[in-house]
Amino acid sequence: MKNFLIYGANGYTGELVLRYAVERGLKPIIAGRNAEKIEALARKFDVDFRVFSLAETAKFDEALSEVDFVIHCAGPFSLTSKPMVEACLRAGKHYTDITGEIAVFEAMARLDAKAKDAGIMIMPGVGFDVVPSDCLARHLKNRLPSATDLTLAFYGMGKISHGTRATMTMNAGQGGAIRRNGEIERVPAAWKTREIDFGEIKKEGVTIPWGDVSTAFYSTGIPNIEVYTVVPDSARKMMKLSRYLGWLLKTKPVQNYLQKQIPPGGPDDEERAKGKTLLWGAASDTQGNRVESRLVAPEGYTTTVLTALAIAEKILDGNFCAGFQTPAKCYGADLILEIEGVKRNDEL
Ligand SMILES: NC(=O)c1ccc[n+]([C@@H]2O[C@H](COP(=O)([O-])OP(=O)(O)OC[C@H]3O[C@@H](n4cnc5c(N)ncnc54)[C@H](OP(=O)(O)O)[C@@H]3O)[C@@H](O)[C@H]2O)c1
Repeated sequence: MKNFLIYGANGYTGELVLRYAVERGLKPIIAGRNAEKIEALARKFDVDFRVFSLAETAKFDEALSEVDFVIHCAGPFSLTSKPMVEACLRAGKHYTDITGEIAVFEAMARLDAKAKDAGIMIMPGVGFDVVPSDCLARHLKNRLPSATDLTLAFYGMGKISHGTRATMTMNAGQGGAIRRNGEIERVPAAWKTREIDFGEIKKEGVTIPWGDVSTAFYSTGIPNIEVYTVVPDSARKMMKLSRYLGWLLKTKPVQNYLQKQIPPGGPDDEERAKGKTLLWGAASDTQGNRVESRLVAPEGYTTTVLTALAIAEKILDGNFCAGFQTPAKCYGADLILEIEGVKRNDEL
């Protein structure tokens, strides 16, 4: 029988993925490094479990031999993705994760040939970052095949989880990123601001180094990409301050201090049900042609779970593309329309 492994299942998002998977009648094997938490979770959801750290190669290989693919939920992925993807390549099993980190996407893209040789799909970013925006990017490219410039923006109305905050804190001080002429370019944090018309609301957006700076290029071939999000004024000021204090934010004592301040968990069910996300994108070409589209999607963590499991179900059905993949490159722009609650709008 086909099955999959959820690694990091005791994290906020890992447990949500597990819960929704079980509700759909799936029986994933769960894993993580904390025996007590993983065992308790396995009992709660009546699933098999394995306990191993990312350094325990033999246990890793044994666990992967029992499944067809992994949904890797243990982040920050710049610290955890390498041993997992290497194990998947060794075992010939597909790799998916919920990263949003540009460096991770780029490292995975470099494994394309190895993944093809192994006959596996490597698809990082099967969560909110990057499925909706990646599908929007591909949709815009379909509408304007000559596009040379892509701008994407999202507005997440809801709380963020421990792991998201931990990953953001770890990467604070690294500045921003855009893609120019096909190359990823470092720019200052909060480099540009602009008004974004999300349809039901207009908001001031600020550039961020979101995963699409990497992935939208692979999904669309568009060489110039900027991604914006909406943050409170205080956060924008902090981002600008980080341009000068970046060196300090990266030091170990400051990182240790900041990481310890992050509360565990994430939005509860009620908060997720109330939240939603708005996405906007525009593509233009050198002839002055321009298209805009928008998406409305469920709250970010709900979307993450729904997209990760939609892709998981496709892989279970044998529907995958060998090599490094982005969600829209393999499954097309309309993948996101399969998610309950998602609406797409092409009106100006
Ligand atoms: N793409 C998206 O839209 C999206 C959505 C949600 C989350 N995320 C990302 O997913 C990650 C998890 O977020 P979260 O809020 O669920 O985090 P969380 O609640 O803090 O849980 C993190 C999980 O990762 C495990 N972990 C962390 N470092 C590990 C390591 N070195 N080795 C083994 N296991 C390790 C933790 O295990 P222990 O309990 O043993 O420490 C825990 O199971 C973050 O990077 C976040 O940014 C992305």
